[in-house]
Amino acid sequence: MSLSRRGFIRSVSPGRSGPVSVELIAARGREAHVAESWPAYSQAAARPSGRAEIKISSNENPLGPGKTAVDALLGNFGQFGRYPFNSKPLDVDFEEAIAKKFGVKRANVVLGAGSGEILRNATRAFTSSTKALVTGECSFENCPRTAQQIGSPVKFIPLDSKLRLDVDAMAAAARGAGMVFFCNPNNPTATVHGASVVADFVRKIRQTSPETAILIDEAYFDYVTDPSYKTAVPLAMENPNVFVTRTFSKAYGMAGLRAGFAIGQAETIKKLALFKMPYNVSVPSQTAAIASLGDQAHIDAERKRNTDVRAFTVQTFESWGFKPTDSQGNFIFVDLKRPAKAFRDAVAAHGVAVGRDFPPYEKTHSRISIGTVEEMRQAVEVFKKVLTTTTTTSERGR
Ligand SMILES: Cc1ncc(COP(=O)(O)O)c(C=O)c1O
Repeated sequence: MSLSRRGFIRSVSPGRSGPVSVELIAARGREAHVAESWPAYSQAAARPSGRAEIKISSNENPLGPGKTAVDALLGNFGQFGRYPFNSKPLDVDFEEAIAKKFGVKRANVVLGAGSGEILRNATRAFTSSTKALVTGECSFENCPRTAQQIGSPVKFIPLDSKLRLDVDAMAAAARGAGMVFFCNPNNPTATVHGASVVADFVRKIRQTSPETAILIDEAYFDYVTDPSYKTAVPLAMENPNVFVTRTFSKAYGMAGLRAGFAIGQAETIKKLALFKMPYNVSVPSQTAAIASLGDQAHIDAERKRNTDVRAFTVQTFESWGFKPTDSQGNFIFVDLKRPAKAFRDAVAAHGVAVGRDFPPYEKTHSRISIGTVEEMRQAVEVFKKVLTTTTTTSERGR
């Protein structure tokens, strides 16, 4: 069957003439949004039973990329046969667009196929059998997993009583280490440290262990509402071996497209770039990412949508007597007083997918990503049913 480009675009984007209203999406839910915008996807996503699964397990943006990004993609198919160094836009255009957005130079930017690639490359660049990785317990697993694969020791530092990274203990452990992974907001606990705490932390490590690299992961930057929080990009620009990672997988809604980057001093970035796969970001990814960098209104609307739905979800759990941490991401981490696996398996039977185990909290806490308001309304009905019919960890022990 032959399908013209115009026909293909019509088939994937009927009625996408005006801007997509966030309020409309939030009110009507993801199913309506997806069905209207991408009917082919909507059919493929349906489960055999005909009931769509609610995927609130991987901290994705449930609405996907914004209209500006989708329009840029749809208008650029002619370039997708080219390599990223030979296409329009070029990979260097993407680096320039990031540099411009952050007021830095292109030499201060390195691209990744998602920020996950940079976390991996950083662990390879800065840790070794004699240079440990320092990370929170628990925090995002990419760096410690890579360290273990390449034989670098890992110092796991327990979190504080509010399930935040323990800055003093991490700074003390950093002495002589190869790299500190500082995840802010921290996945899975969704907690943050404010700008002055992060600045003190960096200053302390720079004084006591100047060779130690500090990776400040800001994957969930766009979802933070705590007013004390600020980006650490200026710190990265002021200090050698300090760098910030960002991703297009979260608020930008492009987890499947794979684009991320790091910012730091040129010498630091050079060390990371040594480990980068050539042409790691695809032409479709850089097309969509460049377009979305110019659409701050979409990110602001996405933050507001997430904040509202997060508040609804948090309040619902609190009304049942379960207290989530102070969530600053597009997910919550909540003490359900029962094993994450038991809860996960029970809600999965009702078509709801929630997060994996996060040791050492897997006996009590679950991570739940924030979907659309409609998804969360349906999900909390399932949670209520499951929480009233499964036993708590302490009841199990009796
Ligand atoms: C804290 C954190 N950093 C980095 C990543 C990697 O994301 P990506 O490789 O999609 O950019 C994730 C993914 O969930 C994350 O939670």
